[in-house]
Amino acid sequence: MNDNHNAQIYIYEIPYFIRMELCRILNENDKWEELGIGMQFKFKVVNELRKERNPTDELLTKWSQYNHKILELFILLSRMQHYQAMNILRPLVDPKYHLLIDKGEGNLRKRGKEKLHKKSKEKDMSIDTKNFNHVSPTQNIVQKVVLKNSEDEEWRKIINQPKKFMSPPLPQSYSNNLLHESPIDNNLPLAMFDELAIGTNNWNKMNILGKGGFGTVYRGVWKNTDVAIKKIERRSGKSDESYATQLQQSLREIRILNSHPHDNILALYAYSVNGEAPCLLYQLMPNGSLEDRLLHKHKTEPLSCEQRYNIAIGTARGLQYLHTIGGKPLIHGDIKSANILLDKHFEPKIGDFGLAREGPEESSMKVSKIFGTRPYLPEDFISSRNLSTKIDTYSFGIVIFELATGLPAYDHNRSECKFLKELMDKWEDEEYDILVDKKAGFNQSTFIYLITLGKWCANKLAQNRPEMEQVYKNLSDSRNRFFILST
Ligand SMILES: Nc1ncnc2c1ncn2[C@@H]1O[C@H](COP(=O)(O)OP(=O)(O)O)[C@@H](O)[C@H]1O
Ligand SMILES: [Mg+2]
Repeated sequence: MNDNHNAQIYIYEIPYFIRMELCRILNENDKWEELGIGMQFKFKVVNELRKERNPTDELLTKWSQYNHKILELFILLSRMQHYQAMNILRPLVDPKYHLLIDKGEGNLRKRGKEKLHKKSKEKDMSIDTKNFNHVSPTQNIVQKVVLKNSEDEEWRKIINQPKKFMSPPLPQSYSNNLLHESPIDNNLPLAMFDELAIGTNNWNKMNILGKGGFGTVYRGVWKNTDVAIKKIERRSGKSDESYATQLQQSLREIRILNSHPHDNILALYAYSVNGEAPCLLYQLMPNGSLEDRLLHKHKTEPLSCEQRYNIAIGTARGLQYLHTIGGKPLIHGDIKSANILLDKHFEPKIGDFGLAREGPEESSMKVSKIFGTRPYLPEDFISSRNLSTKIDTYSFGIVIFELATGLPAYDHNRSECKFLKELMDKWEDEEYDILVDKKAGFNQSTFIYLITLGKWCANKLAQNRPEMEQVYKNLSDSRNRFFILST
């Protein structure tokens, strides 16, 4: 285990958008051909790949079948002096190898100057389509980065380890088929990192909208449009593996948000991978998260009873859409007030799809790891890891409790019942006055209706919880009982 984490990361684990960007760069000017030679593929194999629409991707797939790791690719790219491509892999490679970029770049600059002064006698080994046929295999490629002998030795060892052909074991994070589609199948716009730095006033703290498990979200302007930008930064003290997971989850988010547009699902505008940290750009939700509004962060006005009811309906609408749109349900897995965002009309949009998974067609399936946020998770999922749409139903039930009572789902300062669910389990109708959020102006019947619905959703037994389609129908059919139709 004293081996660094990154040496453990395989080529097939490169997060989607990083791989996508790498392919884009290496497909340019057929740079992948030089890489193919560096990988010691036979000329015939490389020649075959020329017919492919995305040869770099095919090349990486082929190479990954020999269980090569990202670090090896990084070193091959350093031999090619392809610092742009190395920079893209940088977050996935142990910092001790970053000097290959830094040294290399400095080296390159120095060499550039030298070349200006005297004609270099060194043969240019960069390979383009014209001279490709005459190139002999990798050992002849000049090691252009100047390294200490010991470092050189270590890297040489990594590269030259004999590789057996194996079909790669499926890592846990690939356990769902959302990640198996071809990497270059999406036309989501690519934003330049420099533009984002300008649009956030150089990542000014004043522009921070929120922080979550996987990044900091900034308010910004991009292409003259208000946006929220999630900067996926490596958390201090976190391992490379955990950063790779962060990136994997962002990839999930891209896939899902990009392929499931809906009024109640947060819109993704673009992504960025060419800077110090990958970023995702979303539609800006000017009223922030439901959690922040229930806690009156920045001294905002309390949400009215009708606004809360509408937030419940909209969230239920978005969820039932996710659960029923495909052959298999899409389970969000982290429904909570912090992940429900409010637009300028307080219409809710579900965000943060980093934990979303495709569920089984019927009933439930076991997952290898528990995920989500503890106060919003049912006991049966924690104990038996059974994944089904009923997890989202349960979490939605907890959100209903938060809407009705204005109390947080978990409160360390509550003397008893730190979990809101525990508090609601003890609740009796006559205690209406104690738990109702007085700031919302609920009448008793609306409050009791919401709590009853919340309890149905957060039932202990998954089979007794409704599907979100039923919940949506119930909420929208009951609306006229409580409010005069305003729309
Ligand atoms: N589109 C947006 N508009 C406004 N605020 C947002 C937006 N997206 C996220 N936020 C804020 O940032 C917080 C974290 O965002 P989230 O997507 O949940 O990130 P994480 O995956 O890190 O949990 C949210 O709780 C919210 O306060
Ligand atoms: Mg979140």
